[in-house]
Amino acid sequence: MSIDQGTTSTRAIVFDRSGRVVSSEQIEHRQIFPRPGWVEHDPAEIWRNTRRVAAAALAAVDLTVDDIRACGLTNQRETTMAWDRSTGEPLHNAIVWQDTRTADLCVELGGDAGTDRYRTRTGLPLSTYFSGPKMRWLLDHVPAVAERARNGELCFGTMDSWISWNMTGGPAGGLHITDVTNASRTMLMDLHTLAWDEQICAEMGIPTDALPQIRSSSQVYGALREHGSLPGVPFAGILGDQQAATFGQACLSAGEAKNTYGTGNFLLLNTGTDVVFSDHGLLTTVCYQIGDAAPHYALEGSIAVTGSLVQWLRDNLGIITDSAEVETLARQVDDNGGVYVVPAFSGLFAPRWRPDARGVIVGLTRFADKRHIARAALEASAFQTREVIEAMQADSGVALSTLKVDGGMVVNDLLMQFQADILDVPVSRPVVNETTALGAAYAAGLAVGYWSGEDEIRANWAEHTRWTPSMEADERARLYREWNRAVEHSLDLA
Ligand code: G3P
Repeated sequence: MSIDQGTTSTRAIVFDRSGRVVSSEQIEHRQIFPRPGWVEHDPAEIWRNTRRVAAAALAAVDLTVDDIRACGLTNQRETTMAWDRSTGEPLHNAIVWQDTRTADLCVELGGDAGTDRYRTRTGLPLSTYFSGPKMRWLLDHVPAVAERARNGELCFGTMDSWISWNMTGGPAGGLHITDVTNASRTMLMDLHTLAWDEQICAEMGIPTDALPQIRSSSQVYGALREHGSLPGVPFAGILGDQQAATFGQACLSAGEAKNTYGTGNFLLLNTGTDVVFSDHGLLTTVCYQIGDAAPHYALEGSIAVTGSLVQWLRDNLGIITDSAEVETLARQVDDNGGVYVVPAFSGLFAPRWRPDARGVIVGLTRFADKRHIARAALEASAFQTREVIEAMQADSGVALSTLKVDGGMVVNDLLMQFQADILDVPVSRPVVNETTALGAAYAAGLAVGYWSGEDEIRANWAEHTRWTPSMEADERARLYREWNRAVEHSLDLA
């Protein structure tokens, strides 16, 4: 069983040896927006949902605990929690990766060195995206957090740590752990040593005794708690969700890449055991570490808003009633009618890293209507993906031959065809689209010997659909030029 604790929902999925889904349950949680730019989740709600989906996934197909060989965990990355070590009580809502409250703090931390101050040690630019500054914010603004820190009673963690703590213990908690992939998103871990960087922690004022232990992505960490629905099951894999999807897509060799269309889009290129730094706005991150083996690293292009733009059309504009309707609406017109949506709700991430950018809709005329806006919203995911692929090609010098895709939005045929067209590269979707959960299941299953090794994982991968480019080169160039002009407008608001 894999638990996938994502930005919008929590899922439990049971896989068989061929990597096919046996059972799946999902519950959405509340998105809390206390102020413009702030995004929070309720940790108690998320833990409650985790327990419910795990039990429901078993019950739905009459499985018992004895059918489950191991449990893996994958999660929205960077989202940051603080809780009391003795009671397990959350001390604040989780601060979500999309939250921009630490913008000024990041500028302050950069000082004269600027955003690249910690780049060579952590692979990351100073940005509101990452966890370290969020922890600093909690210490500065939540008296209970500062007090627990003074008394040595504070636990900090990303969502994997929060769920691990709860899954392996009673109310007062169990293991306080994280894996190398999640730790590599905090800005507090040295990419080379895979340990907390004492100097960065000191400079950010983060007490290292509040941080979780860093483990590999695939090993038996312990057993699941006795009071849950999977008592005694080995808890044996943790991967940040984008690294998990890379693993689930069997991108296990240097040069293999995948793009996941979730709340945001995340393109990861496995660079093998080499730490490769980007000159074009990509992140360097840990891809996975299996037991004691050398870690694999990745270059990553993170886009903050793609699928969540569709949610915004649904929840904030009300022009669709469910997410699938965006394609129906977009298909009613032949093109975007000159309309472009730049969804810089959390600023712009890769490759620009402009926290000050803001969302814009440009090119409106009296002719434009909600169908064009729906189409432009879908196209925004494809344009942003092209930007990160160009950055990745510039960094690696290797042209992409096929783009492997997964995630919720790949059921959208219009978007996938447009993606192939705007890239001029074929796009390929696997049979098992639940690659994120599958990657964490693989990590756990490898640790207990359920799968024999990487060859079996590769053999399980099969293509479901391939979209082939069919757009004229002039049209592709025109659309991308206009997109870039729209992005300039989003930066003008900075
Ligand atoms: O870095 C953020 C990422 O892990 C979120 O992924 O799938 O929850 O949108 P997702």
